[in-house]
Amino acid sequence: MADQGFPHNFLWGVASSSFQIEGTEPADGRGLSIWDTFAATPGKIADKGDGRRACNHYQLWEKDLALMGQLGIGAYRFSIAWPRILPHGRGTINQRGLDFYSRLIDGLLARGIQPWVTLYHWDLPQALEDEGGWRVRSTAEAFADYASIVATALGDRVQHWITHNEPWCVAVLGHRTGHHAPGATNPNEALRAAHHVLLSHGLALERLRAIAPKAEHGITLNLTPAYALDAAQTSQDEARIFDGDFNRWYLDPLFRGAYPDDMLRHYEAQGNLGPDGWDFIAPGDLALMHQPLDFLGVNYYTRAVFGQHPPPAINPQDTDRITAMGWEIYPEGLGDLLRRLHQEYPARAYYITENGAAFEDQVHADGCVHDGPRIRYMERHLAEVEAVAAAGVPIQGYFAWSIMDNFEWAFGYQKRFGLLWVDYETQARIFKDSFHWYREVVKANRLPRNVKA
Ligand code: FCB
Repeated sequence: MADQGFPHNFLWGVASSSFQIEGTEPADGRGLSIWDTFAATPGKIADKGDGRRACNHYQLWEKDLALMGQLGIGAYRFSIAWPRILPHGRGTINQRGLDFYSRLIDGLLARGIQPWVTLYHWDLPQALEDEGGWRVRSTAEAFADYASIVATALGDRVQHWITHNEPWCVAVLGHRTGHHAPGATNPNEALRAAHHVLLSHGLALERLRAIAPKAEHGITLNLTPAYALDAAQTSQDEARIFDGDFNRWYLDPLFRGAYPDDMLRHYEAQGNLGPDGWDFIAPGDLALMHQPLDFLGVNYYTRAVFGQHPPPAINPQDTDRITAMGWEIYPEGLGDLLRRLHQEYPARAYYITENGAAFEDQVHADGCVHDGPRIRYMERHLAEVEAVAAAGVPIQGYFAWSIMDNFEWAFGYQKRFGLLWVDYETQARIFKDSFHWYREVVKANRLPRNVKA
């Protein structure tokens, strides 16, 4: 089954995001983002880490591009830091910010690597948060203006644009659970944030299409399939609600132009609406969200399970079944998800815009990182992708998360997802075995022969 290789022209890439790798010093005109504020708030980041140095990619980008060249990838997905371009969220443009990304793009193109630009990977300018952030409509309008500025400056060279990364995280982790910036814990604010993020996607898409009509435009969702492990009504309902809250709340507006009915009722029953009910949804908003996409970006890490008879607890040392994040390893979920998307939310193309895992990596005496668990994780997920592609789902590329270890949000620097180890003291990048393994897969456009889905 795994012997046919990947489709001709399958796109191989790696991914990163601005706040996680760039470092914020020297600021070079950059304004503050909500993650600067959040990381500076005691108790929010597990190891008290912040974004000040991160991987210092802002200064080391040429070296990092050389490593990507060695990897042989066809595409690099990175995000643009909004507060580097517009330090106050809107208004005055910081040319040094645009110049940085312009140089990065030229460097990629010179190496034959396509730039895949994400416009928003969570680093909202603090000035906009001070005006209400994603809870208010004006932020969606500011995002569309920011998208126009970036596309006008870089659109001659960028053929792939992603408006948002993982709106669920922005809405729910940022505004309902408070695990992410801005750290709000208000379910009503989470609904408003989700709405304004999706609205901003629609507003930006119109601008992007006008400015870069030949480019391809999409959005990235983190999708987590939900499985009821038994037939009990409660398990079935829990799985449906999880799916509604995590997946359908975003997929339905984008692909069908409507929020799912059962979830509208669910949030009402949960008391998640304020006195003005659903009034924050203006006429025409859903139509704006529901515009043709050139591709859907899918980030996949794990699944969710429900039921009275869960499988025996997973041994936390079992690196074939659980990652250092505590996320179950379930490659079949990726195959199930892609088949479902193709059936229920047909898109012209799907790309895995993130997939990867954190493990307890260490630098061994030989100076290398032998990360067999990460290789197994990737090969098992890629075997699913290969099988699904062979079955006719238009899955056209895969971006490994991440090119290098980085600031893993609320977990700080403790969780390492990279193909390259980062020594945060010296900023050295050290090869992990997975880097060499991935290079061979990219080159051959196939997995090593003994792998089965
Ligand atoms: C995703 C994020 C990415 C990274 C991975 C592990 O949710 O998009 O920035 O943190 O998880």
